[in-house]
Amino acid sequence: MVSSLIYSMLLLIVFFLLSGSGNGITPAKEPTSWKKKHQGHQFAKGRIELGGLEIREISTLANASFDDVTLPSGFFHLGSRSHSALLTLTLIAREASHSNSSPALSPPTDFLPIESSFGTTFLWLPVPLPGFLPAGLLRSASTSKPLLSSLRCVRQEFFQSCDNTGNSPALLCFKNIVDDAMPNLDQITKLLQKYSPWVHFHPDERYLPSSVSWFFNNGALLFSKTDPNGPTPVDPAGRALPQGGTNDGAYWLDLPSDDAEKDRVKAGELSTAEAYVHVKPALGGTATDIVFWLFYPFNGPGRAKVGLINIGLGHIGEHVGDWEHVTLRISNFDGVLKRMYFSQHTSGTWVEATDLVYSTPGQRPAAYATLNGHAFYPKAGLVLQGEVEKGIGIRDDTAEGGQTMNLTARAVIAAAEYLGDGAVAEPAWLQYMRDWGPKVSYDVSKEVDKLVRFLPGKMKRKVRNLVERLPPELFGQEGPTGPKVKASWDGDEV
Ligand SMILES: *[C@@H]1O[C@H](CO)[C@@H](O)[C@H](O)[C@H]1NC(C)=O
Ligand SMILES: *[C@@H]1O[C@H](CO)[C@@H](O)[C@H](O)[C@H]1NC(C)=O
Repeated sequence: MVSSLIYSMLLLIVFFLLSGSGNGITPAKEPTSWKKKHQGHQFAKGRIELGGLEIREISTLANASFDDVTLPSGFFHLGSRSHSALLTLTLIAREASHSNSSPALSPPTDFLPIESSFGTTFLWLPVPLPGFLPAGLLRSASTSKPLLSSLRCVRQEFFQSCDNTGNSPALLCFKNIVDDAMPNLDQITKLLQKYSPWVHFHPDERYLPSSVSWFFNNGALLFSKTDPNGPTPVDPAGRALPQGGTNDGAYWLDLPSDDAEKDRVKAGELSTAEAYVHVKPALGGTATDIVFWLFYPFNGPGRAKVGLINIGLGHIGEHVGDWEHVTLRISNFDGVLKRMYFSQHTSGTWVEATDLVYSTPGQRPAAYATLNGHAFYPKAGLVLQGEVEKGIGIRDDTAEGGQTMNLTARAVIAAAEYLGDGAVAEPAWLQYMRDWGPKVSYDVSKEVDKLVRFLPGKMKRKVRNLVERLPPELFGQEGPTGPKVKASWDGDEV
C-alpha cells in the first residue's frame, strides 16, 4: 500500500538519521533501574511530553484532508504515521511555553508530492530546514501544494534511530518515547485482561493447538543433520534445543515415530494451549503491538473449491509445527485498541477496531481460525484464495460453533525486550531458530495426479492449474520456523 517512492524517501531519512552520529540523535543507553522507575508513566495519559514538546494523537478518516481538522489552540500537524483504508492516526504537537532554547518546531521549506493509493487523497513529504526532520506525511484533498504553514517539522534532537526499522512507513522514533510511553508490566496485564481475543476454532477442526511444553512432553523429537537416525527427546522448557544461530537446516523437530502416538500429538491438546505474548513498540513508539502466538503441533491438508465442488488436497498443505499469530495495536496516547492484525498464510490483514466482532462476555475481539490451516480471520465464513471471481481457489473456512480459547486466561508474556534485560523471562524454546517440522516427504505432482484421477478433463486442468499457482508455503515443504525468526518479530507488521 505504501508506494515505493515513500519507502525510498523514508529510507533516505533513516539513512540520514543513522549516519548522523555526533549530532545528538543517538541517546546514551539508560541503566535498567532508571528504566524500571520511569517506564509506563506516560502510557495512556492522552499526551506525551518530550521535554519542551507536547505530542497528541488524533484519529481522522483516511480521506480527510489536514484542513478539515480543527486543532486545539497552539497545536500544529506533524503529519500522519500510519496508513489504512479507513482511519488514520495523525500526530499533532505544540511547544511548551516555557521553552526558551531553540525552537522545537519549524515549518517545512517545501512539500514533495507522493503517489497516493487513496484516490482523491494526496500525500506530501515535508522538506525540513537543516536541523529539523519530518515526523510524518501530510494528507490533502487537493493536487496543489499545501501552504508551508500547515505543518511543522521537529528539531532532530527529538528523534533517535528506531530498533524496529521494519518495512513500516513510520520509521522515525521520538527520543525516549519507548521508555516513557510504552506500558509497564502492570499495564500490559491490564491490557491483556481487557483486550485478549477469543479464538474460535472450526467445528470440524481435528488439529488443535497445544502448549509447546505439551508437544515436547508428548514425544516430539529433535533431529540433526549430522545424526538423522538418532533423534533425541526435548525437555518441557526446550533447553535441549540448539539456541540462536540461523535456520541452516542442521536441526528440525518432528512428531513421535510411533503411528498411534503421531496421530495423538497431531490432534494437539487445547486444554494445555497457551498464547505466547510478545509486546513491542510500533509506529516509532507511539503505539504498542501485543502479538499472540499460538502453536499447533500439526497443520492439516488444504481444501480447494472448483465451482460447486470441494476437493480435499490429499497431503498438500500438511506440515508439522504451525505458528500463527494475531496482533493488537494499542495507542500509547489513550491506551485504546485501534486495530488488529490477522495472520493468513505468509501475510495477513489489519482490521480497524470498529470493524471487529466482539464477544458478549467482556469486550474482547474474536479471531476465527481456519479449518486445518489455522489462518486467522475477523469473521466466520468462507474466503477463497485464488481466482475468486471464477469460484476457484483454496478454501479458508471459518465457522461458529466449534471450540473456543479464552486468551485472557491463556496468555503468557513471553517477551518484551523494551522493558530491559530480565524483565520478562523468555522461554528457552524461543531461542530455537530452526524448523519446528521436517521437510515433507511427499511428491506434490504425484499428490496432484492422485487428486485429479477421477475428475473429468476440464476439472482436471482447473485443479492442476490452481495447485500449480499456489504459494509454496501452502505445500508445506518445510515446517515453519518459530516466532523469533519471522520478519514481524523485529519489524512492524505490514
Ligand atoms: C470519506 O470516507 C467516508 C467513509 O468511507 C465516507 O463516508 C465519506 O463520504 C468520504 N468523504 C469524502 C469527502 O470522500
Ligand atoms: C476468560 O478468562 C478470564 C481470566 O481467567 C476470566 O476472568 C473470564 O471469566 C474468562 N471468560 C469466560 C467467559 O470464561
